[in-house]
Amino acid sequence: MKVLVVGSGGREHALCWKIAQSPLVEEVLACPGNAGTQRVGRNVDVAATDIDGIIALAREERVGLVVVGPEDPLCAGLADRLREAGLPTFGPGASGARLEGSKSFAKDLIERHRIPTAASRTFDRSGLAKGYVRGCQSWPQVVKADGLAAGKGVYICEDSRTACAAIDAIMEERRHGKAGVKVLIEEFLEGIEASVFAITDGSTILILEPVMDHKQVGAGDTGPNTGGMGVYSPVEGLTRRTHKQIEQRILVPSIHAMRQEGIDFRGVLFCGLMITESGPRLLEYNVRFGDPECQVLMRRLAGDVVPMLLATAEGKLDSIDTPTWDARACVGVVGASEGYPGEYRKGDRIVGLEAAEGRTDVVVFHAGTRSEGTDVVTNGGRVLCVTALGEDMEAARESAYAAFDVIDWDGKFCRRDIGRRSLPAQPARAREGHEL
Ligand code: AMP
Ligand code: GLY
Repeated sequence: MKVLVVGSGGREHALCWKIAQSPLVEEVLACPGNAGTQRVGRNVDVAATDIDGIIALAREERVGLVVVGPEDPLCAGLADRLREAGLPTFGPGASGARLEGSKSFAKDLIERHRIPTAASRTFDRSGLAKGYVRGCQSWPQVVKADGLAAGKGVYICEDSRTACAAIDAIMEERRHGKAGVKVLIEEFLEGIEASVFAITDGSTILILEPVMDHKQVGAGDTGPNTGGMGVYSPVEGLTRRTHKQIEQRILVPSIHAMRQEGIDFRGVLFCGLMITESGPRLLEYNVRFGDPECQVLMRRLAGDVVPMLLATAEGKLDSIDTPTWDARACVGVVGASEGYPGEYRKGDRIVGLEAAEGRTDVVVFHAGTRSEGTDVVTNGGRVLCVTALGEDMEAARESAYAAFDVIDWDGKFCRRDIGRRSLPAQPARAREGHEL
């Protein structure tokens, strides 16, 4: 069988890498892919948002499974169109993707189904939103753009002045484009953040191993948020009891809610949670694998991923056993280009990739890279993610950084503290929101 992976980031390289190991798979195609996906499969120059182009490609190549990586094509209805064309697809249709595409839609569903969350109000006029925050008694308040904003549409505001500035930035200046048509003002929750991934076909749920990313650009969780500067798994401190609560209070009710609302969800549900004193509360849904969380999940997942992806696409996940995991720890260190998450440089030649990958239990996943003749050059803010397995977190860390350090390009940087955060040392309150 041929499998087509849609997207071009580190997440998609990790998916291609794992899928290519399956004895069921004859070839992996990536559209548009990057220099890393080209090594384990074949890149085809079709954009991830070109729905007609992707359908034509999948038909022409007679692919047996399409796996959609990023949220934008899912929100645009790619999975619906692929399924209409008879192509088994891992990824929710537009109605499911709306759980990520509109925070107010998600919030309404979460509240209707009494899933524990943070209290919030939605406004479609900036004047009303500002009037509301001026009357708020408790601070901080969290101001969020409703739509897709690449993880950058959330502002934690200490007082009504900064909240009003955030509302203006979102709704009047349109800093996040049409994501700012509506705004949510949300209660600030204290606690420990966690992400949980669950594969579901709408009926059966398979919960994946806990992973934790480091969102902020600077060591010690300082500076602006990014897509993720590094990741580790397992997550010590997330107790079995908390895990059970997440399953019973968040995941199972979420699946029930979707069924009741007629949402046919076949893919991965990524829940952003705050573990508070009164238990886990749901901050947001994403409808795809996290990046770089996926890289570490694919490294630790034992066995063949393809039966699980295919069974999800076909609505037969009940036929699949619970996944098993490599007991070792895994750390992923992201290498970024100078300037990221702001304006960054591109086109710098990357050296040392082979030497890094020659090291035991190390795999380098490409993200913003491009082949130029025999060279690989930088082509994005997050350039690559060096992953390493180790007997414990410290061993995995050492191995990941040792491999990271043999790779080089002009303007390369990383965070040096990936995998060092141990729960529950990091209260969310200490983290900065986005600067206004
Ligand atoms: P989101 O994109 O909704 O996950 O928000 C981005 C980040 O903002 C989260 O990872 C949290 O660190 C923080 N955040 C979002 N909502 C809240 C909240 N209600 N209380 C505290 N922190 C929040
Ligand atoms: N690493 C966070 C995300 O993919 O949304």
